[in-house]
Amino acid sequence: METTTQALSLVDEAPATESFRDAALDGLRKSQKQIPSKFLYDERGSKLFDQICELEEYYPTRTEIGIMRDNVEDMVQSIGPQARLLELGSGSSQKTRILLDHLDDLAVYVPVDISRSHLVEAAEALAEAYPHIPVQPLCADYTTSFDLPEPPQPVHRTVAYYPGSTVGNFRPEEAQRFLSRLAEAVAPNGGLLIGVDLKKDVAVMEAAYNDAAGVTAAFNKNLLRRMNRELNATFDLDRFEHESIWNEEKGCVESFLRSREAQTVTVAGHSFSFAKGERIHTEYSYKYTLEDFAELVGAAGFSVETVWTDDQSYFSVQYCTVDG
Ligand code: AVJ
Repeated sequence: METTTQALSLVDEAPATESFRDAALDGLRKSQKQIPSKFLYDERGSKLFDQICELEEYYPTRTEIGIMRDNVEDMVQSIGPQARLLELGSGSSQKTRILLDHLDDLAVYVPVDISRSHLVEAAEALAEAYPHIPVQPLCADYTTSFDLPEPPQPVHRTVAYYPGSTVGNFRPEEAQRFLSRLAEAVAPNGGLLIGVDLKKDVAVMEAAYNDAAGVTAAFNKNLLRRMNRELNATFDLDRFEHESIWNEEKGCVESFLRSREAQTVTVAGHSFSFAKGERIHTEYSYKYTLEDFAELVGAAGFSVETVWTDDQSYFSVQYCTVDG
């Protein structure tokens, strides 16, 4: 069998370890201790997240994949010919394959991820599976601004693909700011294909973040492990516990690491004391109604063109176009 392999050149705009150090120290100094959730995704964290996606309790992944499979022809129609597909937080790019299987005339696929090894692995696998599609992996923190590499051929429109309800990690004000920047990046004529988790029975939402096998707990605690390794921290993982609970007022599942006892921990040479029961906030997972989400993207300069959902209305995939 003859195979053609693309020469992949990674564009590396990844932040240095410094920013993890600064973010961790800043966050741990706050009265509500906190660490931004993007730091959950180091190499090990990204692998644990892939395992979360396979869990029975974690309904979003399989539901979104079902929606993609059932509606891919419509989605491809919306994206149109000669598009640049810009995937934000591409991870293992599993859902993207559903699109790439049907996007015969894509100008270029640009996966963006903060986890370099994960990105390279996924980009190589995709380049091999889709030799006709140019792949331009970009290692960057897409929550800050980044520069798009020059496309290898003319692009008719840029469509951002943001699956997984990752938008739910932002507080709504931040989500709006981020989506506004994205609208600028894909304008004029651009689009956004986005996965958005919907509000539902609280027990279903909470179970998704409290799996019986403890994978989500390991994913959350990996943040402590990462601080130990990268920031010379002294966290004892057994002295913290994972907690994820629905916050009705905010409309999100919030995740924490709770100190089981009073203790003092050193991080990058600074010491931090924890009261018994004190928590580090580690993640928001906002859930939306269709109305609320339409308002949010609308304020950011997008209009919702099409909403696809599953038969339980657990999850949605939405195609939005840039206004003006
Ligand atoms: C990838 C951000 C959508 O919030 O559901 C899964 C991450 N955290 N289990 C989510 C996550 C714990 C996930 N997102």
